[in-house]
Amino acid sequence: MKNIRCCSTSTFIVIFIYTTILVTACLTHAAGFDSVIQLPPSGLRRTRIRSRWVLSVSDYGAKGDGLHNDTEAFLEAWKIACSLSGFINVVFPYGKTFLVHPVDIGGPCRSRITLRISGTIVAPPDPVVWDGLNQRKWLYFHGVNHLTVDGGGRINGMGQEWWVRSCKINSTNPCHPAPTALTFHRCKDLKVTNLMLINSQQTHMSFTNCMRVAASHIKLSAPAFSPNTDGIHISSTKGVEVRDCVIRTGDDCISIVRNSSRVWIRNISCGPGHGISIGSLGKSKKWEMVQNVIVDGAYLYNTDNGVRIKTWQGGSGFASKITFQNILMENVSNPIIIDQYYCDSRHPCQNESSAVRVENISFIDIQGTSATEEAIKFSCSDASPCEGLYLENIFLASYVPGNTSAICWQAHGTARGFLYPPVCFSISDDAFIRHNIRLGSNPAIHSV
Ligand SMILES: *[C@@H]1O[C@H](CO)[C@@H](O)[C@H](O)[C@H]1NC(C)=O
Ligand SMILES: *[C@@H]1O[C@H](CO)[C@@H](O)[C@H](O)[C@H]1NC(C)=O
Ligand SMILES: *[C@@H]1O[C@H](CO)[C@@H](O)[C@H](O)[C@H]1NC(C)=O
Ligand SMILES: *[C@@H]1O[C@H](CO)[C@@H](O)[C@H](O)[C@H]1NC(C)=O
Ligand SMILES: *[C@@H]1O[C@H](CO)[C@@H](O)[C@H](O)[C@H]1NC(C)=O
Ligand SMILES: *[C@@H]1O[C@H](CO)[C@@H](O)[C@H](O)[C@H]1NC(C)=O
Ligand SMILES: *[C@@H]1O[C@H](CO)[C@@H](O)[C@H](O)[C@H]1NC(C)=O
Ligand SMILES: *[C@@H]1O[C@H](CO)[C@@H](O)[C@H](O)[C@H]1NC(C)=O
Repeated sequence: MKNIRCCSTSTFIVIFIYTTILVTACLTHAAGFDSVIQLPPSGLRRTRIRSRWVLSVSDYGAKGDGLHNDTEAFLEAWKIACSLSGFINVVFPYGKTFLVHPVDIGGPCRSRITLRISGTIVAPPDPVVWDGLNQRKWLYFHGVNHLTVDGGGRINGMGQEWWVRSCKINSTNPCHPAPTALTFHRCKDLKVTNLMLINSQQTHMSFTNCMRVAASHIKLSAPAFSPNTDGIHISSTKGVEVRDCVIRTGDDCISIVRNSSRVWIRNISCGPGHGISIGSLGKSKKWEMVQNVIVDGAYLYNTDNGVRIKTWQGGSGFASKITFQNILMENVSNPIIIDQYYCDSRHPCQNESSAVRVENISFIDIQGTSATEEAIKFSCSDASPCEGLYLENIFLASYVPGNTSAICWQAHGTARGFLYPPVCFSISDDAFIRHNIRLGSNPAIHSV
């Protein structure tokens, strides 16, 4: 066993040979614009770069000192950008800190906007600012198509005051939602790249009801103790690619919920945090489905979970055609887990007679170390057992001296290749199924 374990790092490097053509193409594109900045025409508070207009929030009254309320300047620049036609850059300049209050930024726009955040955007630190406002939103973009957000800057949620008020930190606190730092709702052909999000009030970045999303080269960071600070949340969204991200937070690195499909996740580094999760699904007897998901290439370090599917009892719908492959884990508490008895509630959940179906789930080339003995846990529903599980080349040793094991309840599937810990469901050789996931094409990745 020892000599297999020694090879995991080099295997990991081999795993991560991906095409960089896209990245190179984007960088070349951006550099081309920056090199031809012209002087602003007198009297016009915007700069023309080749065929692209540039509107800096500083030209609309933003002070960028971190203290002055720069919200109005942002709204003003956005309003003008949105009403023009052609390609427009709205810029938060480098080297400055802009205090932005909760804002709704709406489309549709005539133009195609690139929001270039090169400086820092900070949230008001005091939750009192949200009194009378929607507590779930800070920077909220909705109905904007062909939006690109980039710039190499930072978005700081200043979440500390929200965390101490959380009922997860202090159970005497009432349970309230806290803002998602960056939300995209009903956006089509969206690209988010080259950004850093830190210390969000709650979830860092969320895509809800969007179509064709490409997110890459994003760093998300908050302390391990910060409550519910998910990295990237994908909800009711179809066609998402998330790649080359580094996520260290207090909750799920990536969570995929509620009627989402065609999700492709690759080259993700995750930890600390709660790992990569599908679900939870089926809370409050809801019908929900997640299907056609590939997680290909991930490194998980010191996380509570590795790859996880979680469903509440009593729901319906399905989680299906999901593949987790080329994953390296280090000291992960539940490296592979399906939990159809998920119950994140103050009261114990009752056993119910229905469940969200979990079907056609593959785990391929997953190796590393488990912080607990139970490296694989399939805790499936009595009402609706897991079907079509598939395991291939799994090696999950114990992080501390000892053996690992797999536990199964109501789990059915097939397996091949090297498997440690040994599988816990009975394997039928004839029923080999390696699920092929169809993602379709994602124009968002190619169009910008
Ligand atoms: C900051 O500016 C926005 C936009 O003008 C406004 O809605 C908000 O009330 C302002 N907040 C404070 C605390 O001044
Ligand atoms: C939890 O909150 C209560 C009431 O706000 C406070 O009295 C108590 O000291 C807090 N406990 C901790 C551990 O912070
Ligand atoms: C994986 O993502 C990291 C972090 O963004 C990046 O530095 C690295 O180059 C990526 N690897 C590949 C092979 O693209
Ligand atoms: C998911 O989609 C189904 C069918 O379109 C719909 O009935 C259900 O309400 C949706 N669930 C949620 C949580 O949006
Ligand atoms: C390994 O994981 C366990 C359980 O999460 C944790 O207590 C321990 O500190 C981790 N070890 C290291 C070296 O980080
Ligand atoms: C629910 O079902 C599980 C699995 O069959 C069983 O272990 C558990 O005791 C049951 N819980 C209740 C509250 O009936
Ligand atoms: C699971 O795969 C089988 C065999 O390919 C297929 O018949 C079934 O419809 C799939 N289940 C779901 C929920 O997609
Ligand atoms: C691990 O499993 C091996 C083979 O079954 C056994 O010989 C060994 O004693 C086990 N080690 C521990 C710490 O349980």
